[in-house]
Amino acid sequence: MAANTNFEKYKSDGSLAGNVLEWVDARFPATAMWKGHLSEYYAPKNFNFWYFFGSLALLVLVIQIVTGIFLVMHYKPDASLNAAGIPVAFASVEYIMRDVPWGWLVRYMHSTGASAFFIVVYLHMFRGLLYGSYRQPRELIWVFGVLIFLMLMAEAFFGYLLPWGQMSFWGAQVIVNLFGAIPLIGEPLSIWVRGDFVIGDATLNRFFSFHVIAIPLVLIGLVAAHILALHEVGSNNPDGVEIKKHKDEKGIPLDGIPFHPYYTVKDIVGVVVFLMVFSLVLFFAPEGGGYFLEYNNFFPADPLKTPPHIAPVWYFTPYYSVLRAMVWNFFGLDAKFWGVVGMGASVVVFAFLPWLDRSPVKSIRYRGPIFKSFLTIFVICFFILGYLGTQPPSFWGEKISQVCTVLYFAFFLLMPWYSKIDKYKPEPERVTWK
Ligand code: HEM
Repeated sequence: MAANTNFEKYKSDGSLAGNVLEWVDARFPATAMWKGHLSEYYAPKNFNFWYFFGSLALLVLVIQIVTGIFLVMHYKPDASLNAAGIPVAFASVEYIMRDVPWGWLVRYMHSTGASAFFIVVYLHMFRGLLYGSYRQPRELIWVFGVLIFLMLMAEAFFGYLLPWGQMSFWGAQVIVNLFGAIPLIGEPLSIWVRGDFVIGDATLNRFFSFHVIAIPLVLIGLVAAHILALHEVGSNNPDGVEIKKHKDEKGIPLDGIPFHPYYTVKDIVGVVVFLMVFSLVLFFAPEGGGYFLEYNNFFPADPLKTPPHIAPVWYFTPYYSVLRAMVWNFFGLDAKFWGVVGMGASVVVFAFLPWLDRSPVKSIRYRGPIFKSFLTIFVICFFILGYLGTQPPSFWGEKISQVCTVLYFAFFLLMPWYSKIDKYKPEPERVTWK
């Protein structure tokens, strides 16, 4: 509230700042936007630490864009060999790491930042599951979120080819070959995507273009839409009750507090803790034990030498396990095709959550044992699938990933049924807050 009064005071006090603000406001809704999205945007007063991850996702997005801009100044998307017989793209990354002042830091911020992005976004999505944030009236926020997630996956996939290491090359080879599983058009489609019969210079150049401009543009647009949709309906909260139901005579929600200064200041706590953890990883374990930067990627891409075990980066491995779990041919279509369908469905199914959940309450605080059990099993299966996806194929690995795949989908597909028959605690009228 104080910030708002200050603006009005500024504009009338005849000072230079006040005059400039008045001039701008007559031409651009600066004060109106500040009020609408910050000083007079009322957020529930009972946010807990789960609500840090949205602003942290924004922070990581900015880190990725800024470090990416500096990387592009020195990186070269070129698969041809230099005088030393090393691919130019690979050598340019080594040049950034060894010769560009602070290049190692910028590169590690970007590569570790990719993993940090997925950790933050997974926690952000999990918060949505905990508190039913995808439910009416926030369906569109959620759907934009799922689109952001898909774009994020594409962004990470395209970016991973750029260092042109062994894993970049063979990982892309495996994934692009999956297009070949589509009946009739599969083979020509995968050649079209690659621009060549194998992953090559043409592929590297188009992936570079998608990674540095096309997908970031879409991502930024989607994030803007995500936040606009959020500010249209207002935030959910750990109790899952709508604060707009109880307003004072001025129309201000009784359980709401202005986002600025209360949550801008609170979010700084999250930012500081995040930056501390991020710095620890960055300076002491930037490779994340081979999970953030895979060891095989320190070897230049060699189309003649297939690594014995090709695994995607950790954030893709749950879905990769779903792909590998499908080993049966159905309806005359081979297992690879069903694997691709299963893998795609395991991500897209999130988008349908708002319409699958039929429970009378939103938050896990008031949900019954059936939902809690399904959610716990889903999370355990997600981790098991993630772990198995990093491992070479094995008999038991295959069996376990098949069971986990069934349980993973059961969480979503049985939801209309179990969310109806579950037992619920009565939801409070107002948010609970100590
Ligand atoms: C670049 C990635 C993303 C950014 C920058 C981002 C940003 C934000 C921000 C700033 C908020 C408000 C603060 C908060 O509630 O934590 C928010 C809320 C929300 N986000 Fe995201 N988000 C991203 C990805 C996602 C994804 C992938 C999903 C789900 C699939 C998602 C679903 C939601 C939902 C449902 C809310 C409302 C939560 C509530 O009111 O309880 N977001 N997001």
